[in-house]
Amino acid sequence: MAITITVRKAMLSDALSIGKIYTDSWKITYRGIVSNSFLDELNPATSAKKFEGAIIGNSKNRFVYVAEIGKEIVGFVVGGPQKDNPNPEVGQLHDIYLVSEHQGHGVGRELLTACAGELSKQGFKKMILYVLDENPYQRFYEAAGGVLEPYQGSIEIGRQNFKLLKYAWGLNNA
Ligand SMILES: CC(C)(COP(=O)(O)OP(=O)(O)OC[C@H]1O[C@@H](n2cnc3c(N)ncnc32)[C@H](O)[C@@H]1OP(=O)(O)O)[C@@H](O)C(=O)NCCC(=O)NCCS
Repeated sequence: MAITITVRKAMLSDALSIGKIYTDSWKITYRGIVSNSFLDELNPATSAKKFEGAIIGNSKNRFVYVAEIGKEIVGFVVGGPQKDNPNPEVGQLHDIYLVSEHQGHGVGRELLTACAGELSKQGFKKMILYVLDENPYQRFYEAAGGVLEPYQGSIEIGRQNFKLLKYAWGLNNA
């Protein structure tokens, strides 16, 4: 039976579910990559706080969409202007995370498409995202048409330095 996925703008009452998905996803995806001490400190309530401003449209012009299956929130995406070096033509997909049981069923693709659609509506001509070089899901971005761009940046997480990869999409502003 085909599953019905609903993608909608997040509400403040979704914040804790979003914080839990973020926390669980980091602990599963980055265990063995990012330090245990950093991962063990993550918790749903603190992570939820990180997204509340974006949910209510009060943080750096960011927006949040959630994906629901039935009444369960199974994933979310955060988009908006670029974090560093804001450019009116270039928007950024900042975060995309799913509960592990619902990965591989097309939910991530729907969230990525919703983010690209909202950025396009806001007038951005291009969408970029950064992902850790060690992230095992890079094929997802390539399957969704992302093009790897030359990039030399890195990020410090829990006192370790990680190389970042940069993917880009042209947006259709028609
Ligand atoms: C990465 C993530 C958002 C992808 O969402 P998803 O719902 O699992 O992916 P989809 O089912 O929509 O897959 C879309 C396409 O990507 C491909 N794909 C997804 N994950 C893949 C993987 N790990 N390896 C290879 N291909 C993959 C699928 O085969 C599909 O391709 P197709 O349309 O040609 O068949 C999700 O798996 C996730 O949250 N992972 C853990 C957290 C994470 O790493 N987030 C990103 C941090 S930047």
